[in-house]
Amino acid sequence: MKRQRTHAPGRRALSNVGGRARLAGDPAVAKALASAARPPGKADPRALTHGFHAWPARMHPFTAGALIDEGPPGVVADPFMGGGTVVVEALVAGRAVVAADVNPVALEVAWARTRRWSGERRAALVARAHLAVEAARRFRHGKRVDDAIWKTESEWFDPPALAEAWSLAEVLGHTEGPDADLDRMLRVCLSSVLVKASKQVSDSVPVKDAEHAWTPARRVEDWFVAKAEEHAGALAALHRAIRAEGPPRLLLADARRPPDDVGPVAHVVTSPPYPGVYDYAAHHERRYALLGLDAGLARSAEVGARRSVRVVGRADAERHYVNDIAAFLAAWGRHLEPRGRVTLVVGDGQAPDGPIPTLPLIAAAAREAGFGVLASVSQPRPAFGPGRGKRPPGGRDGKEEHVIALTPAAAT
Ligand SMILES: C[S@@+](CC[C@H](N)C(=O)[O-])C[C@H]1O[C@@H](n2cnc3c(N)ncnc32)[C@H](O)[C@@H]1O
Repeated sequence: MKRQRTHAPGRRALSNVGGRARLAGDPAVAKALASAARPPGKADPRALTHGFHAWPARMHPFTAGALIDEGPPGVVADPFMGGGTVVVEALVAGRAVVAADVNPVALEVAWARTRRWSGERRAALVARAHLAVEAARRFRHGKRVDDAIWKTESEWFDPPALAEAWSLAEVLGHTEGPDADLDRMLRVCLSSVLVKASKQVSDSVPVKDAEHAWTPARRVEDWFVAKAEEHAGALAALHRAIRAEGPPRLLLADARRPPDDVGPVAHVVTSPPYPGVYDYAAHHERRYALLGLDAGLARSAEVGARRSVRVVGRADAERHYVNDIAAFLAAWGRHLEPRGRVTLVVGDGQAPDGPIPTLPLIAAAAREAGFGVLASVSQPRPAFGPGRGKRPPGGRDGKEEHVIALTPAAAT
């Protein structure tokens, strides 16, 4: 029997915000994709742990859950996991799950969003957040912010905000033994308030805000404690909702080169970057130094990044995108069960001279990797980016978002 989706009423949808859908391919599968792509108004994108940490272009949890429910039974994989929406929904659906991302912040956020912690552990988290604030105050008393952090971060934070963030990260950064996971969780709580505490415009716009308002003393500490309290509540809801037996397997890995021991996968449900739209490595720049994360793989292996599309231009960007998606499909295709499926949620991209239609690029990549398109649904999405208005069909700015089901070519 199909599980009832239980996201509570509330808030706005993230992506897939409606509009007329174009269906193609197998009619029954296309219809199922279309209904997954249209979260009902009551589907809350912040339910469970979904609202914990910003992630540009995160999937609507309703869409992730519905795609998992409609697809083949068995292990779910998300090779471009971002903040872990698919991972959470797979656990709720009772599935084993393996997921990866090149960005270390993704790994931390997905880890933090998927812990099945007892009430005792959640209470310890909140108590420890308060203790960390006291310890950080003692730690920074009479000290200056570390030179290396000051050098890169002082232009991005007001001095009280930087001192509080740095000292919290320091007291939480070296714990070993049974409390290490509590402090890891608290570092991700700090991560989730860092951009708000900085002069950066937003999580997806990594430039300084000309209208930045001063962040007063104690504000970062207050936000940090409030986030820990809120997350403890969200983890309680997650604890009740999870039906999977074990924890997810989360990897810091390039989707094009997963480890050999991934094991059999029934359904890859994932949202690769939209070509030329986001710059995930740059979006998280405020977090790496403060939280001691190594961004090497994110900087060198991110596919479809805006920074590279701007340098190489449309034709090469499209060619690279096809090659990158084909490489990811071929790599995960090796782990796919014979009746397995790959479902992609991806929006049109952005070149300097206008939108990049993604659907034909995915179809080309699928062919190259030995997959066929089983069905797809495309719908207009709201205007964003510098290419607005340059291509009439589709959405208000000519852009669409697609949900595409692929199967190994022999099964199509
Ligand atoms: C659209 S986001 C995924 C959002 C995710 N579905 C969620 O709900 O949070 C795309 C992700 O792909 C990751 N990524 C980019 N290149 C990658 C690569 N080569 N291998 C694995 N992940 C990659 C980015 O870091 C980003 O987190």
